[in-house]
Amino acid sequence: MQNEKLKMRGWMAKDANYIMSTYPRHPVVIVKGDGFRVWDEEGNEYIDFFSGISVCNLGHSHPAVISAIEEQIHRIFHISNLFYTIPQIELAELLIKHSFADKAFFCNSGAEANEAAIKLARIWGKQFSPPRYKIITMEGSFHGRTLATLTATGQEKVRRGFEPLPEGFLHVPFDNIDALRRAIDKETCAIMLEPIQGEGGIIVPSAHYLKKVKELCKEHGLLLILDEIQTGMGRTGCLFAYEDEGIKPDILTLAKSLANGLPIGAMLATDEVARFFSKGTHASTFGGNPVACAAAKVVVKTLVETEILDYSRQVGYFFKQQLERLKEKHRIIKEVRGRGLMWAIELDTPAAPIVDACLKRGYLINAVQERVLRFLPPLIITREAVLGLISILDEELKRSL
Ligand SMILES: Cc1ncc(COP(=O)(O)O)c(C=O)c1O
Repeated sequence: MQNEKLKMRGWMAKDANYIMSTYPRHPVVIVKGDGFRVWDEEGNEYIDFFSGISVCNLGHSHPAVISAIEEQIHRIFHISNLFYTIPQIELAELLIKHSFADKAFFCNSGAEANEAAIKLARIWGKQFSPPRYKIITMEGSFHGRTLATLTATGQEKVRRGFEPLPEGFLHVPFDNIDALRRAIDKETCAIMLEPIQGEGGIIVPSAHYLKKVKELCKEHGLLLILDEIQTGMGRTGCLFAYEDEGIKPDILTLAKSLANGLPIGAMLATDEVARFFSKGTHASTFGGNPVACAAAKVVVKTLVETEILDYSRQVGYFFKQQLERLKEKHRIIKEVRGRGLMWAIELDTPAAPIVDACLKRGYLINAVQERVLRFLPPLIITREAVLGLISILDEELKRSL
């Protein structure tokens, strides 16, 4: 065991030597995953309530995903978008069949999917006189780390230091329809938002807010861009969170769990908008890579053809009840928020010590914003695992008083 600890310290030292220091990492080297469990180099087991920030929604090392990757990797793993590839076409067909959209564009990450959405909205806006280019986004939102997407992001800490920022982004308070209405002018092309703010601290808007946003878009002829990079692919109990709201966007972005862990991003759009992207207007060397697409096909099929979404809703409801019970016991918990298997508790105190304590006791959870504990388990998490986490949270919250 002493040896293993030394090995781990060795990796941490090498990481510090060779990798730019952009992440506040936990002192654990994860080497293996299976279902909702992962293991570190020392052989310690952890129950995963994090899913790599809502990426491994089907669980780690999902056998059907592994088979699809293996099969594809033996055929071909890259050729470029200057040729047709079957997994990409089949994935697009599946996504279109199960969504509002008519066309897909593939890339490699969430930021790229949003970047594509911003470009599509702007090129769409060029048809008007004066041209429309402004995009209204929400305070507290998160849309990525490229220059355009960090400008779209409604968090000052993400933007600070990178000025001058691209023009044409306005931020308004989330869940405030009047502020949104006031921000629209004749140069606005789109409203872009997350159905539930993830990095903002699992902020769920009030009922019918998204419907009102959609109505505003219709009234002013604006595009509605939904960033479902965190809420999509079953996280909130539906394939896409917009399904619960009785609305349809014009553009939707996906990434994270689309391929259950392989890098992929996608932008979906209606034909009316997608036609403004023509040959040469946008591209990505790796976008729609055959291996990532083969994995993503399994993810979509599993979500729509099995009982996993029903199951996740039931366990999610159980989780919510347990968190609410915990809130009754601990005054330090100010609020329980979430939907499906996307949950958070807001504390009166910093959340990081609780995250560290849970890690030491074999549970991976995450702090988002300073005082919010976030839980994003794989959709296959069991009630028993939920109860295990709740009892540890119960003890640690007591201890933190
Ligand atoms: C809602 C949302 N949009 C965009 C992104 C950026 O995705 P990526 O890190 O893949 O660029 C994230 C990442 O956390 C996100 O949660």
